[in-house]
Amino acid sequence: MMSKANENWGYCDPKYLQILGLKVKPLKERSYDMMQLQDGHRVLDVGCGPGTDTIPLAQFVGHNGQVIGIDIDNQMIITANKKAKEAGVADWVIHKQADATSIPYNSDFFNSCRSERLFQHVNRPEQILSEMVRVTVPGGWIVVADTDHSTMTIDTPDIDIERRLRSFRTDRFKNGYAGRQLYRLFREQNLADIIVEIFPIFFTDYALVRYLALMGPVEQEAIAVGIVTKEELQHWHANLEQADKEGMHFSAIIMVVVAGRKS
Ligand SMILES: C[S@@+](CC[C@H](N)C(=O)[O-])C[C@H]1O[C@@H](n2cnc3c(N)ncnc32)[C@H](O)[C@@H]1O
Repeated sequence: MMSKANENWGYCDPKYLQILGLKVKPLKERSYDMMQLQDGHRVLDVGCGPGTDTIPLAQFVGHNGQVIGIDIDNQMIITANKKAKEAGVADWVIHKQADATSIPYNSDFFNSCRSERLFQHVNRPEQILSEMVRVTVPGGWIVVADTDHSTMTIDTPDIDIERRLRSFRTDRFKNGYAGRQLYRLFREQNLADIIVEIFPIFFTDYALVRYLALMGPVEQEAIAVGIVTKEELQHWHANLEQADKEGMHFSAIIMVVVAGRKS
């Protein structure tokens, strides 16, 4: 099930994001609620990927509104624009290649703004949040969802190996602790009426979690830099595969969603 693209650590392919999108659907839907969307609104999705959220957002703002998605990866933009066309919303849903650290729109341009699982991939999330605040109208809602990768847990007797792999995996992200930082980042931007919600996600499908958590590449890198030995990894796999055979795999991770209004 692991795709070639996912062996390149840190790269997300559109198919991967779509599968993950289904897993986090309740979080996505709640983030739309938090944006307080209305017919005719102009909204922004920052780090939009293949349009997983811009296309659902279209129905909330209607064709009198506008949904704009930006992403640094042009392949994502091509896929997102194609999907918007297929969904019949391309007249009011557009995607543009741009770096979120310098959003190419005027100040006070959007009624609301969201970002999901982008802050984990950047070194300076505060710069992106500050840009999101700048382009949002006073009183508009800003919503950010992200993961705290250090909360990933797997039911295994190999607790010590699990700990080492978890730390290594978290540190491989530019900002694997993004979820826990959001409240502070929102306070630092002086956002008002801040709401914090936690979304735990669990898996009982071992193949799916291996794919979504990029466990294969993480394990290979962990061996290469001496975090675990080959023998330890064999032991780890044997136990996880045995649990899977018995229908007993369980793993979980926590995501955080924070919303706040521009004063
Ligand atoms: C984990 S994906 C999430 C995509 C989408 N938000 C979703 O929920 O499916 C992170 C996305 O952020 C984009 N990205 C990373 N750094 C960026 C930056 N500096 N500016 C804009 N987009 C960026 C990546 O290209 C990728 O599409």
